[in-house]
Amino acid sequence: MAYENIIVEKREHVALIRLNRPKALNALNSALMRELGDALVKADADEDVGAIVITGSEKAFAAGADIKEMRPKSFVDVYREDFITSEWEAVTRVRKPVIAAVAGYALGGGCELAMMCDFILAADTAKFGQPEINLGVMPGAGGTQRLTRFVGKSTAMEMNLTGRFMDAAEAERKGLVSRIVPADELVEEAVATASKIADKAPYAVMATKEAVNRAYETTLAEGVRFERRMFHALFATEDQKEGMDAFVEKRTAQFRGQ
Ligand code: CAA
Repeated sequence: MAYENIIVEKREHVALIRLNRPKALNALNSALMRELGDALVKADADEDVGAIVITGSEKAFAAGADIKEMRPKSFVDVYREDFITSEWEAVTRVRKPVIAAVAGYALGGGCELAMMCDFILAADTAKFGQPEINLGVMPGAGGTQRLTRFVGKSTAMEMNLTGRFMDAAEAERKGLVSRIVPADELVEEAVATASKIADKAPYAVMATKEAVNRAYETTLAEGVRFERRMFHALFATEDQKEGMDAFVEKRTAQFRGQ
């Protein structure tokens, strides 16, 4: 598939995906989401890729679903298409870690896309918000659900009901982002972080991601049991032997994904 709305680069073992509709502040139209889904499936299947970064421009990660494309749709259209879920959730099906590197606006579907990633690195210019209420609708890709899990009911309720934006400092304080970096270092820092993950044992990385995500879907007792079984399973890998041998021999581990 030729891409017109995203740019994909490989930086060693990291796939870097840039949303690229600058004139529309990276508004997420169906063509862009189709391309993003395709790029994610390819990066997930590429044995040479260990982690993925999704980023936008300095001005906008993404200013939301494309309002101009959505505007003429009827109830029947959106219901029949199951508008937003199928293609949009491609990122939640990726088994390798996905980092959202957010500078500028991450609004509506842009904020929701960032929250579907495994963690968010924010530039000091980042602004998060769910302004759908100003359009006479509400979030449709997780804004009422994931934001509430990140920042708690009170803040999520206020943001969803008023449409107010949250700056990077508040987003860090409230746990929406893992950390803030200067805007001009954002992409390099995200790629360096992804690269650090890509150097680890791939099955341990995949199992860790699966286990952390389980924390949102199950009880504590079931989550801990799942974690323990995944921990046990990793003892069947050569990378467990390599990691522990390397520690004892005081050298850097060379993981091979076996
Ligand atoms: N959809 C389509 N086009 C958009 C867009 C969007 N979400 N956001 C911005 N654009 C377009 C603008 O229409 C404008 O295009 P034109 O020059 O052709 O008019 C261009 O991008 C630049 O935008 P502005 O001139 O508005 O730039 P600004 O700097 O003055 O304001 C902004 C920036 C505050 C982000 C403002 O653009 C804005 O409020 N955008 C809409 C944000 C929004 O409501 N997002 C939620 C969408 S609904 C949704 O996402 C549903 C869901 O849950 C999935």
